[in-house]
Amino acid sequence: MKPVILPSLLAADPGHLADAIRRAEDSGADKLHLDMMDGAFVPNLSYGPAIVELARKTTRLPLSVHLMFVRPDRYAKRFAEAGATTLQIHVESSCEVGATLEAIRRFGAEPALVLNPLTPHTAALPYLHLVDECLQMTVFPGYGGQKFMPEPLPEIRALRRAAAAAGKPDFAIMVDGGIDRATIAACAEAGADQFVAGTALYSKSDMAAEIRLFRQLASDAVRASSHALS
Ligand code: DX5
Ligand code: ZN
Repeated sequence: MKPVILPSLLAADPGHLADAIRRAEDSGADKLHLDMMDGAFVPNLSYGPAIVELARKTTRLPLSVHLMFVRPDRYAKRFAEAGATTLQIHVESSCEVGATLEAIRRFGAEPALVLNPLTPHTAALPYLHLVDECLQMTVFPGYGGQKFMPEPLPEIRALRRAAAAAGKPDFAIMVDGGIDRATIAACAEAGADQFVAGTALYSKSDMAAEIRLFRQLASDAVRASSHALS
């Protein structure tokens, strides 16, 4: 398993987004994470499809687009057309979750399911056959720079087991919120393999070195836990 690292554009200077997108790519990021907020599902606003279009024009990196929306079904097509690679919708949103995941695939994007920090992994199980990725929040969504919550770690472990039992050994489990050099290992050890980080990457003068350190810490944690098992 090669750890996948995603800088979150939310932590970048909004006056220089194109530069921040290029900086993520030049620093060796695997994908870029873009946070969309509707001011209702979360008490904050960010940006919309125009920024996904900007990112699509600016980088070759896959775009992971996180829709913190009450009604992601109403906007999924626009974000897919704007160039989202993956569209991540919350299981707690007020739409037909299964139908929306299927619609996202029809629109030409990869569908993924997002779980809030205190939502049990069992909420994802009815939709597992529709997705190849789950995003587990490790903070309550809405703001960058919050403190990592450890509560989801056992749920990540259980979701990893459930995905394996469902014949999906390559299922992606992404974590988002408070991920940094102090918290990434616990997530990797629990079974996460994709790591979103805003503050911890954009605040560093050498983002490339921090991404390399993240990969090393995640790989070491997986290696140590598989030794402990054998
Ligand atoms: C929070 C967003 C995150 C945010 C993470 O609602 O989903 O993607 O950018 O920021 P950090 O890494 O600063 O916690
Ligand atoms: Zn996010």
